[in-house]
Amino acid sequence: MNEMNAIRAHRRGGPEQLTYEKAPRPQPGRGEILVAVRAASVTAGELGWDATWTDSFDGSGRDRTPIIPSHEFSGVVAARADADAGWQEGDEVYGLIPFTRNGAAAEYVTLPADMVAAKPASLTHDQAAAVPLAALTAWQALVDHARLRPGQRVLVHGGAGGVGSFVVQIAAALGADVAATVGPDDLDFVRSLGADTAIDYVHQRFEDQIDPVDVVVDLVGGPTQARSWDVLAPGGVLVGIAAPPDTQEAESHNARAVFFVVEPDRAGLESITQLIEDGRLTPTVDRVLPLADGRAAYEALEREHRRGKIILHIGD
Ligand SMILES: NC(=O)c1ccc[n+]([C@@H]2O[C@H](COP(=O)([O-])OP(=O)(O)OC[C@H]3O[C@@H](n4cnc5c(N)ncnc54)[C@H](OP(=O)(O)O)[C@@H]3O)[C@@H](O)[C@H]2O)c1
Repeated sequence: MNEMNAIRAHRRGGPEQLTYEKAPRPQPGRGEILVAVRAASVTAGELGWDATWTDSFDGSGRDRTPIIPSHEFSGVVAARADADAGWQEGDEVYGLIPFTRNGAAAEYVTLPADMVAAKPASLTHDQAAAVPLAALTAWQALVDHARLRPGQRVLVHGGAGGVGSFVVQIAAALGADVAATVGPDDLDFVRSLGADTAIDYVHQRFEDQIDPVDVVVDLVGGPTQARSWDVLAPGGVLVGIAAPPDTQEAESHNARAVFFVVEPDRAGLESITQLIEDGRLTPTVDRVLPLADGRAAYEALEREHRRGKIILHIGD
């Protein structure tokens, strides 16, 4: 009764550290809910973040091993610590779990009640689990940090990936003109998401394909990010999500450089839910694996081409 199945790592490292095993079932603390997880999603790079292993973002905090990964989920409220928690047992919810606590690759997870939103009724749990972390990253990049306005021009690097597929759709829904760099097999796919211009990053130079843009959302980093200053209009903004952009380059191009880590945000998640219910935003699920295959899911993030998110299916 007090145990659950989970994916855990007892030592810091990559997918090779992940095992499917029994773990203690968590208890909700004050203001928290216990959620019976129906589906969780895995994110590229997650096992390299300090917050996945410690209780701080810079690695200086307390070691949290054994840890449970996967910080976005969809599920059903199983218990609440107090009446103030707002939700009732049986409510279907989805959300982003703070990175400095255990994730949702498990049958149960606890988190603050005010960090979840009602699951979109039009989505299955497997589809809904693809949304909170990835779509909130896209939303916070475009709305909170870039302060995107209708009619502006946006370039998204990595537009077919887990986060990028949401950036393209949300930017289009907000009235932007959207260009996206993707691999050669994803050109039609990213157009179907709403990109006005699709650029093959293997065979084309994005600098040769577009006029200057107001916003770059970069999910790739490295040389792709460094080259992006040349396509940014004066007064524009480069939002780096995989890596922080160079602030000196920003200054010399009369532009803004932003790096941020996505945060739980119920109001943002409710705006995203509305876009989904209006038929303007659709999560892209690359594949669904059983919880026991959690290690394989993280291995696929490192080795395999994907469109959208990989989901761990946990229960019905
Ligand atoms: N700061 C935050 O809060 C935050 C939140 C979420 C994610 N992240 C980070 O953001 C990054 C993206 O996450 P994700 O989940 O979207 O990853 P993902 O699903 O792996 O997507 C990355 C995409 O980038 C494409 N790509 C690779 N090289 C490229 C290039 N040179 N030009 C254009 N596209 C290229 C890949 O296409 P191919 O498969 O064809 O190579 C893939 O579709 C990761 O580093 C992740 O850790 C940060």
